[in-house]
Amino acid sequence: MDWTDRHCRYLHRLLCKNALLYTEMITAPALVRGGALYLLDHSPEEFPVALQLGGSDPAELAAAARIGEEAGYAEINLNVGCPSDRVQSGTFGAVLMKDPGLVAECCAAMMDAVKVEVTVKCRIGVDDQNPEDVLPEFLARVGAVGVSRFAIHARKAWLKGLSPKENRDIPPLDYDLVHRMIGLFPALHLSVNGGIETLDEACAFLDAGFDGVMLGRAAYHQPGDVLCAADRRVFGTDAPDSTPQDAVIAMLPYIEAHLIRGGRLIQITRHMLGLFAGRPGARAWRRMLSEGAPRDGAGPELIEAALAQVQPSEAARVPLGCRAV
Ligand SMILES: Cc1cc2nc3c(=O)[nH]c(=O)nc-3n(C[C@H](O)[C@H](O)[C@H](O)COP(=O)(O)O)c2cc1C
Repeated sequence: MDWTDRHCRYLHRLLCKNALLYTEMITAPALVRGGALYLLDHSPEEFPVALQLGGSDPAELAAAARIGEEAGYAEINLNVGCPSDRVQSGTFGAVLMKDPGLVAECCAAMMDAVKVEVTVKCRIGVDDQNPEDVLPEFLARVGAVGVSRFAIHARKAWLKGLSPKENRDIPPLDYDLVHRMIGLFPALHLSVNGGIETLDEACAFLDAGFDGVMLGRAAYHQPGDVLCAADRRVFGTDAPDSTPQDAVIAMLPYIEAHLIRGGRLIQITRHMLGLFAGRPGARAWRRMLSEGAPRDGAGPELIEAALAQVQPSEAARVPLGCRAV
């Protein structure tokens, strides 16, 4: 939430053509009762994108899934992992690990409503549950209604006493448990999530037999490291690796179009701050964008100037006077 909005996804798609991208969690009530259809806005270039829904009312989730499918999303994913208070109060997210029957009902209703695949993102348990029992039971019950793809954040959520942020770091990761699910459920497509920081680590999980890996924070903060070589290393494509520089250049017309529509530069550049993380000029890039983008009237010339700081030779490749298409 607040991170993988449409601008972030557009950038990430420039860096990696094949990875499945996810929307932020959008609650079913917001779409169905609130009519907040703007939350579904996207560019076709972002695809494939899974729309992640939050909710626990089967009929409402089915209606939201239908709206998402009509908007063009390639997959509907149910969030059974979010630990925030706000979400708990609406019986969304991780608290649903306590009610696999309801999750199965929700998924069945969504599957009846749409043709695109319905998938689930979950934890290994919550609070004092024993993950050794809870995770296989959850996969069996939800798998029984026909869900065949799960992304599993390999740690519990502690719903009382930890903030959402702490719930992403403090409960220990148990990759072995998630790995054992591969043997127990050979027909399921299982992706592991949580604490994976590099492309090397992601590849090691795939080599160990996982069907997929899901990366959150590393993909956001170090997209250059994690995404640029992923098409070649994970998906086996022949195309040359993408580069952060090329992505910046390719963002310029997108940014111009956003500004012409009345948008602000910072709405896009906030997702670009980590593009050069660990590379020469990264600090200057981040500083120039952080300081300059919030200013009134800030535009693509700021990005061109920041890019020149990163690698002067790259600046010459920015098409001068590049304007919106
Ligand atoms: C700021 C923030 C917002 C998040 N929002 C969502 C969300 O909307 N839906 C979701 O399934 N997970 C969300 N997550 C959790 C991540 O998807 C992921 O499961 C978690 O960060 C662990 O993976 P990582 O170590 O690769 O980041 C969020 C994480 C962060 C840091």
